[in-house]
Amino acid sequence: MAVDFYRHSLGEDEKKAVAAVLDSLFLTTGQRVYEFEKAFEGYLGLPAVVCTAHCTASLHIAMLAAGISPGDEVVTTPLTFLSSANCVLYAGGTPVFADVDPATANIDPAAVEAAITPRTKAIVAVDLYGLLADMNALRAIADRRGLVLVEDAAHCVEGRRDGYGPGHLADFGCFSFYATKNLTCGEGGAVTARDGTKKGLLRQLSTHGMSKNAADRYAGKYQHWDMERLGYKYNLSDLNASVLLCQLPKLAERLARREAISRRYEAAFRAMPGVSFPRVPAGAVSARHLFTIWVDPARRDAILAAIQARGVGVTVNYRAVHLMKYYVERFGFSRGMFPVAERIGDSTISIPLWPAMTDAAVDEVIAAVHAAVAGSL
Ligand SMILES: Cc1ncc(COP(=O)(O)O)c(C=O)c1O
Repeated sequence: MAVDFYRHSLGEDEKKAVAAVLDSLFLTTGQRVYEFEKAFEGYLGLPAVVCTAHCTASLHIAMLAAGISPGDEVVTTPLTFLSSANCVLYAGGTPVFADVDPATANIDPAAVEAAITPRTKAIVAVDLYGLLADMNALRAIADRRGLVLVEDAAHCVEGRRDGYGPGHLADFGCFSFYATKNLTCGEGGAVTARDGTKKGLLRQLSTHGMSKNAADRYAGKYQHWDMERLGYKYNLSDLNASVLLCQLPKLAERLARREAISRRYEAAFRAMPGVSFPRVPAGAVSARHLFTIWVDPARRDAILAAIQARGVGVTVNYRAVHLMKYYVERFGFSRGMFPVAERIGDSTISIPLWPAMTDAAVDEVIAAVHAAVAGSL
């Protein structure tokens, strides 16, 4: 039985929503985007959501809103997708990595504290795999050291930790609606602020710094607009937003299925020699975006290939960013600098996790992992 790494759950509702936008006059950023922003503000419990083209754009905007410029350092995790560090480079800043907690794989607040220098201006925390970073601890550090706290919540729309949700403790939160995300429109994103007065700034940074965007310009009669700051072309279209709007009411049910699948995996792998997995701390609700297993780093690639050979889709989230060619050549990073992130990056295999997976498909994944790790494939 083949099991795809990921299959989306979009269907008739989304098709109808897109068709309705196609039948309307307005395709770009307009009423559907504004409706989704309002609904997402309500869902998250935050005063400001601005939709963007993707989470990478959100992170770039967050860096600009944080005032990052050449000479500034930004502390982030090496165990993440490239965007969390590349956004610092886009703004002309210098990424500084801090190692991760070996149990959760999220950035370790003590390592963040140790990485702070007089040039540090911000922290980019990542809610890896769906578990919120330890935002309470990071907020305390940011407040004590006068830093801007940015949260890369690309993996975490539905999570909770210590009573807070994604974006609650961050100055700016960054969300992804990429094709494989729990909430998706193929490509899309959002940037949030816990200070509602920042919404206008975030909007302008995503629309060339224009004083009016397309919908404002269309409403009523033509009015001249101005460019008030340097911004980027990072807005989302009504076509995409219409797809997102359909999914908000379905997130809770889909999370319940993700949780059930994850628990089935955990029960199986707890009993399987040679396999471990990241821990979700007691009381935390993970968005269960990705399920990753950790295997012997020396055998990871062989095990990955064997699982794939049996027809089960896998990927790696992530190999440590500081060991990517560009980072090594530009900054001189080397092995041994962030040993926990390196070990996890060398051990990781992400296995299928999507709400429509059947129990039989989950069992097939477990059997494939068992056979691959036991060397019998
Ligand atoms: C942790 C993390 N941050 C940022 C991104 C970038 O998201 P996007 O593809 O929407 O730019 C991703 C995408 O996979 C991600 O996993």
